[in-house]
Amino acid sequence: MKIIKSKRQFPDLPHFISLIEWKLPTLSRNKAKVARATSIYELAQIAKKRVPKVVFDYVEGSALNEVSYKRSRDAFDNVEFNARVLRDVSKIDTSIEIYGKKVDLPILFSPTGYTRLMYHVGEPAVAAVAENNNLIYSLSTMGTTSPSELAAAVPRARRWFQLYVMQNRDESLSIIKQAKESGFEALILTVDTPVSGIRVRDMKNGLTIPPRISLKTVFAIARKPIWWLNLFTTKKLEFAAFRGWDKPLVELAAKIFDPATSFDDVNWLKSVWDGPILVKGVQSVEDAKKLAQMGVSGIIISNHGGRQLNSGPVPLELLPEVVAAVGDKIDVYIDGAVISGQDTYAAIALGAKAVFIGRAYLYGIMADGQRGVEKVIELIKRDFVNTMALTGARNISEIKEIGARIRNVSN
Ligand SMILES: Cc1cc2nc3c(=O)[nH]c(=O)nc-3n(C[C@H](O)[C@H](O)[C@H](O)COP(=O)(O)O)c2cc1C
Repeated sequence: MKIIKSKRQFPDLPHFISLIEWKLPTLSRNKAKVARATSIYELAQIAKKRVPKVVFDYVEGSALNEVSYKRSRDAFDNVEFNARVLRDVSKIDTSIEIYGKKVDLPILFSPTGYTRLMYHVGEPAVAAVAENNNLIYSLSTMGTTSPSELAAAVPRARRWFQLYVMQNRDESLSIIKQAKESGFEALILTVDTPVSGIRVRDMKNGLTIPPRISLKTVFAIARKPIWWLNLFTTKKLEFAAFRGWDKPLVELAAKIFDPATSFDDVNWLKSVWDGPILVKGVQSVEDAKKLAQMGVSGIIISNHGGRQLNSGPVPLELLPEVVAAVGDKIDVYIDGAVISGQDTYAAIALGAKAVFIGRAYLYGIMADGQRGVEKVIELIKRDFVNTMALTGARNISEIKEIGARIRNVSN
């Protein structure tokens, strides 16, 4: 019987030395964990250990039994990509043009309220990542940084402003004016909030801004000392547009969300804002058609990440029909449960112009501030580019040509 043996030799010392990675041990274990994270899920796990439960639940939670979020996630998990081979994918271009300017990836930062609750620097830390990666940041009406403060902190970042039409239209007008004067390019009108969604976790946790100090809090401080230290040693945590407010969130929502908001308000907004207007929270083909006729620049198919109407349409499932109806007239964006580059690819392949991410970057900021958000973009980009190469798509329009479908998997 023939047996093959490897020939021995003296150890090749220079080769052995070249394999050694000389790295000083890092001082912060958390920083090292974030650097090693291979997915946004891992960042979420790190985040959970860093911030109080009330904060993590506020970010992760949705409305009622949270089935909408689960269905959005399932839709992404059931996507099957078409793939083409032998297409020379040595050069991949992930950029798109949005309102005349290039962005480097088809992702935008969703408006999310109270960002300083998640990490003390708040909105400027996220907008700085947008600037560093040539992306667009959207600031919420419920932000903890005002439009003018954000403009001062990150003057070169592309900034959009998200508006809730408030019961007092003059208050809306004054914040729109501030956004315009502070160089914000576009307005996002959120329309899926005629009333606040029922967020059971927040009700159980008694969420208030700023957080109340009770006996329970004292134990919480002992468990998450860094978060509390940051809270106590930085400027007061409050809504930039509603300084001095210290009542429960539900009461603020009642002031900000106007159940009487209607299509007339879209026309009103067009009369007071001369830049692009996007309508966020569209959940039907009929509304998409009407808004396209009214001449908005774009729509975001969204159910607020499952935080408003529970058991409504799943954005990814609705997307192809909406794109078929209005995609040649206006930009169609999507959000909800986008947590990776593969999800981003799926949404583009099914017709979206680009995706908005919310929780994904909030997990990053809770895990490690601005560094955590940078890591989120790095991970999304890694998977997105990798998926493009493996499906044979060299640019964004080829993703659409190659396409994808949602598998019909029964629950
Ligand atoms: C913590 C949190 C706060 C939010 N605040 C706002 C807001 O102030 N205005 C708004 O239009 N949408 C808000 N949203 C919804 C997001 O803009 C976006 O629609 C949603 O996060 C997308 O789902 P995803 O988080 O799974 O990516 C918020 C979402 C989260 C998670």
